[in-house]
Amino acid sequence: MGFRANTILNLIVGTAIALSAYLKPVGGNTADEVQGWTITQRQGWYWGSQGSRLLPLKWFESLEQPDNDKPFADIGYLSSFGYLAPPSGSSFRRPIGFAVDKQPDANLVATKLRWYQTQQGGSHAEPWVGLNCSACHTAEIAYQGNSLRIDGGPSLTDFQSFIEALDKALIATKSEPEKLKRFSRKVLAGRNSAKNRHLLVAALDKLIEWQDETARLNATPLRYGYGRVDAFGHIYNKVAMFAGSEKFTNNPADAPVSFPFLWNIHRQKHVQWNGIAENTKVQLGVGHLDYGAMGRNTGEVLGVFGEVVVTPQNGLLGSFEGFRSSVDLANLDRMETTLEKLQAPRWPISFPPIDQSKASRGAELFGMKCATNCHKPTHETTDTETMHKFVGMPANELTDIWMACNAFTYLAPAGKLADGD
Ligand code: HEC
Repeated sequence: MGFRANTILNLIVGTAIALSAYLKPVGGNTADEVQGWTITQRQGWYWGSQGSRLLPLKWFESLEQPDNDKPFADIGYLSSFGYLAPPSGSSFRRPIGFAVDKQPDANLVATKLRWYQTQQGGSHAEPWVGLNCSACHTAEIAYQGNSLRIDGGPSLTDFQSFIEALDKALIATKSEPEKLKRFSRKVLAGRNSAKNRHLLVAALDKLIEWQDETARLNATPLRYGYGRVDAFGHIYNKVAMFAGSEKFTNNPADAPVSFPFLWNIHRQKHVQWNGIAENTKVQLGVGHLDYGAMGRNTGEVLGVFGEVVVTPQNGLLGSFEGFRSSVDLANLDRMETTLEKLQAPRWPISFPPIDQSKASRGAELFGMKCATNCHKPTHETTDTETMHKFVGMPANELTDIWMACNAFTYLAPAGKLADGD
């Protein structure tokens, strides 16, 4: 038995339901800031963990670049992949979206690494680094020395090259004795014994193997370049890995798409470029759980280095038993609620004023060339009304249908997600 792409939504929604008890109320807001966000809300967006675990924090800080001995975590180096430096004066020393995840790991599998003898899995578990939403949904543009950060704007990152560089750096650490020596000295500072060095190499092997399998499944000769990623393809393959699907014909992650902007998303009925995810809210006591967003974001976290432990769903409750995972649902809900407050950026005063005659000519052209087809609102929109973005996807040379096609045609064995028939 196989699973199709939209089974992913069932898995992730199951996870969301099982863990929704962890939801916490969202803090107060005085929208006195740029784009409707306060400094605290912006900080939560930049640095809040969503349960993404790419590699242990200590390893991230100790790793060297693949071809030299400079630090991998160097902001200048990470900026070369398009990641944005933290705002000046910030106490954070990682690029925007490089969030630290600290949680007990005793129930996890793939991201439960042990590299020294006294290491604990409970409340003192080692922190990890991963990517949160803002790594992919924050833009920055510059004009004559004035830069403008756009929260929720499309990032111009080269995710594919970043991951390849990380994989190369891990492999180089394993295979080059001098690199390994320096790495062990830093990671094991104060406990650099032969036994721990042995444990560290075994843990490094485990992470390399995991990354290698991910790379094998996603492999494509296509280069995404800056500003595009096949998010759906990556999520799809990760879910197959967690489901323990036996080796299957590769579903290459070969449909890179642009990073969308995120203001107004809560007003859309459907999201994702192919409209596969519905925004559905569920009333929970006095508040609401953004059920659609939770499912969608849980999928995103799994695609971007979150972990779920899939066990066969044989009990009476079926998928309502849920799954153990690293996904931080409380923070995800907080981030999604913060997003509802996000406003489109205003034209900055440091930029030259808008040429009104060109702007009205642009509006005319939009009406003629764009709104007549794909971008026509089905009815007038207001702040509270639902926007219907999709009015059909014309199969013409203007539309890249690859992502939608992959979402429909990709198949993988269901593994532990199989329901037994
Ligand atoms: C690794 C990069 C990456 C990360 C991290 C990421 N996203 Fe995205 N996101 C994308 C890409 C690429 C798409 C477009 C996917 C598609 O539809 O094919 C997308 C789509 C979306 C959409 C749909 C928007 C629309 O108009 O259809 C929303 C909403 C969204 N992301 C929110 C989030 C939130 C919230 C988080 C964090 C919990 C997050 N994203 C994390 C890359 C990312």
